Amino acid sequence: MPEPKPFERLPENVKPKNYIITLQPNLVKCVFHGSEEIDLEIKEATKQIKFNALDLTLRDIKVALSSGEILLPATTDITASTEMVTLTFNETLPIGTAKLSLAFDGELNDKMKGMYRSKYTSESGEERYSAVTQFEATDARRCFPCWDEPALKATFNITLVVPSDRVPLSNMPEISRAPSEADPTLQVVKFATSPLMSTYLVAVVVGEYDYVEDTSSDGIKVRVYTPVGKKEQGKFALEVATKVLPYYKEYFKIAYPLPKMDLIAIADFSVGAMENWGLVTYRETCLLVDPHNTSASQRQWIALVVGHELAHQWFGNLVTMEWWTHLWLNEGYATFVEFLCVDHLFPEYDIWTQFVTNTYIRALELDCLKNSHPIEVPVGHPSEVDEIFDDISYSKGASVIRMLHSYLGDKDFRTGMNIYLTRHQYGNTHTEDLWTALSEASSKPVAEVMSTWTKQTGFPMISVTSHQDGNNRVLTLTQQRFLADGSIGDTSQWMVPISISTEKNPSQSIQEVLLDGKSTQVVLEGIPEDSWVKLNPGTVGYYRTQYSVEMMTQLIPAIASKCLPPLDRLGVFDDLFSMVQAGHTNTVEILKLLRAFEDEIDYTVWSAVHNCVARLNQLISHTDFHGSFAAFVRKLFSKIGQKLGWEAKPEEKHLDTLLRSLVLGQLGLYGDESVVNEAKKRLSAHVASTATLPADLRSPVYKTVVSQADEKTYDQMLKLYREADLHEEKDRISRSLGATRDPNLIQRVLQFAMSSEVRNQDTVFVIISVAMTAPGRSAAWAFFKKHHQELVDRYEGGYLVTRLIKYITENFATEEMAAEVETFFRDRQIPGTERTVQQSLETIRLNSAWLQRDQDAIKKYLLEG
Ligand code: BES
Ligand code: ZN
Repeated sequence: MPEPKPFERLPENVKPKNYIITLQPNLVKCVFHGSEEIDLEIKEATKQIKFNALDLTLRDIKVALSSGEILLPATTDITASTEMVTLTFNETLPIGTAKLSLAFDGELNDKMKGMYRSKYTSESGEERYSAVTQFEATDARRCFPCWDEPALKATFNITLVVPSDRVPLSNMPEISRAPSEADPTLQVVKFATSPLMSTYLVAVVVGEYDYVEDTSSDGIKVRVYTPVGKKEQGKFALEVATKVLPYYKEYFKIAYPLPKMDLIAIADFSVGAMENWGLVTYRETCLLVDPHNTSASQRQWIALVVGHELAHQWFGNLVTMEWWTHLWLNEGYATFVEFLCVDHLFPEYDIWTQFVTNTYIRALELDCLKNSHPIEVPVGHPSEVDEIFDDISYSKGASVIRMLHSYLGDKDFRTGMNIYLTRHQYGNTHTEDLWTALSEASSKPVAEVMSTWTKQTGFPMISVTSHQDGNNRVLTLTQQRFLADGSIGDTSQWMVPISISTEKNPSQSIQEVLLDGKSTQVVLEGIPEDSWVKLNPGTVGYYRTQYSVEMMTQLIPAIASKCLPPLDRLGVFDDLFSMVQAGHTNTVEILKLLRAFEDEIDYTVWSAVHNCVARLNQLISHTDFHGSFAAFVRKLFSKIGQKLGWEAKPEEKHLDTLLRSLVLGQLGLYGDESVVNEAKKRLSAHVASTATLPADLRSPVYKTVVSQADEKTYDQMLKLYREADLHEEKDRISRSLGATRDPNLIQRVLQFAMSSEVRNQDTVFVIISVAMTAPGRSAAWAFFKKHHQELVDRYEGGYLVTRLIKYITENFATEEMAAEVETFFRDRQIPGTERTVQQSLETIRLNSAWLQRDQDAIKKYLLEG
């Protein structure tokens, strides 16, 4: 890894207490003016004041001392590389209070950070802009000069000067409105003083919006703001939000402290959603539900996103990490809680089961790389901060909290959470503060156990062997770090809460141990020799299990017979798949086991199977027997495909709806003739408006049809894209275009991705869709090499470019490609992507080794069975 870049933390001698900020965005010229008064506390006499600002010009800077004396800085140094302003005075500023005032100007940029512009078409058909903010992690400084670190909490008094026909919003409710004296077409709108909060949570929006509103049972006014004319689409999120606020109040035993909660859909937005206190901003697709055009999976996603951002109102906003090293406290915890919330509101989603495929497995897959990182990771420069919004902070964070929740039990967990939130409200914390509170509540060694999970990279593989001792079964458990390349040689050890289930009662743990050394023995009383024994029931422990051959042989029939509960079926399966990837066992073993799933009916198990099939598909797409693999996959999915059919049954379950679109999508992509024909037929009827495709079937149908497409079908898809009004529908179409295998069409998709028809926020996902097929993979990489500068400039680094780099590189499988990718990025360092590039290189080399190791055996198995 390259050396960390130089960067500066703010000195501790001067702290902000209160900000009075006036912002006047000009939505036509796309610039803004601002002025500011900041109450400071000077803790040590000084001649210098340092704070953050970036891409702003500053004017009229002065400091008023408590004596009434006004000081002007002798010099003002603005350093872009450190994003810092240094004011130097000839006089010494004494200990005490002072008021810094200044004016500033900036641009409403196109980079979706700081205060930026977002484009929409007005009802009259005119192109217009709204002004929107996105500050996390370090971009408040692009909107107003400030002490832009999470621990420097202050109160904020925001005033917006806006045209009278625009909606002005900020964190707090509006308290006054009057015409501007300077320009009577403008209104001066003041908002109430905020509670003590971090800069990254401040937000403003100025634009044209409609809203729906309701009041939660605990008296909070909730509004969902939508584009004009679409307020119906806000109803679902409104219902979720109004129900969730009282649920969290009860769960955390602390009321939501602001008088209002606004949720708003923004047309151009870099991430999915942002938890600004009292004014949560969302991508349109993460908030809006159109009953006729929103799929069940998107609806579920929206519930999770709303649950996640509202969880942050407590965990993150009320209590905030001291520094970005502890980002996982925010993101891991909110990711855990979003599942609590959705489970409470929509028990039929069986969302905790989905947690395992969606979050837990994803974390393990990244965390088995040598280039993973610990949950608590030292970060400094803003680009390093951006890069840790990754699957370790989110998914591993949530997974270890889920493990801890199960280790402590719900009651002690809740008590501990309440101690933590109450003790630190309006303050900042380190990870240890959470452990302290949870230990107090549970009397368990939480810090000792958990620091092995948050301070070390990776996770253990628990190897199990067993022998019989009379009526008892004796297990020997041994831990070592699990690495994707199968190597050992790392001495890390974890404190692992391990639970064990047996055939007698498959869904219950009969024994629990805390493995706190290299190895231990466990005696299971009264367990006969011929019964299976399984570790990790419910797949809660953050580790992989490697069974002895005998134990594994006993478990496999319990998968096919479904004696094992779904999470355990998929746990055994996915652990075995990881052993395959690491070369501990041959890929043929997983192909054999896959056949045990032909009669499977559980959505989550199928999605784990799908995940494995997708990985194998990427690998095998590099070989000459990809066709045999496709046939294998068609066979695997054919029974369930026939069972589900194309038509939704009346009153069918949510999970069956999700399963149908997964299964038909797979059959279509792997070329099942009847599915392909039916998809074509249904798309034609949809296009001709004779039979509208239900939203749940659109993605599988679009991808299937595009994968076979000629120019004419492709143009038909583009027409659908252009006619679509709902953002979700545009996404669905644009992300299916990459399924084409036609070299000319691939080029057209790539051009389209960069065109003005696709918003910057969506471009990367269209390119990624291209990179998912074998011919698209090299085309997308060639395209990226050619256009990388343009892409990097578009986003100024950040989250989206990092995603793009990951997905377009990690599926190569030769040493030559690894070397090519390595050289490319060595010559062109892109800030904030360093670790991602290292992870991709590692994955490419793992793919290459995997293919060389197993391809002959796979081929033989697929051809001969
Ligand atoms: N705090 C994040 C938003 C964020 C992400 C800011 C990355 C800066 C960089 C927000 O709470 C979040 O986690 N959003 C997720 C959606 C969530 C449901 C997982 C996102 O945007 O992907
Ligand atoms: Zn979050």
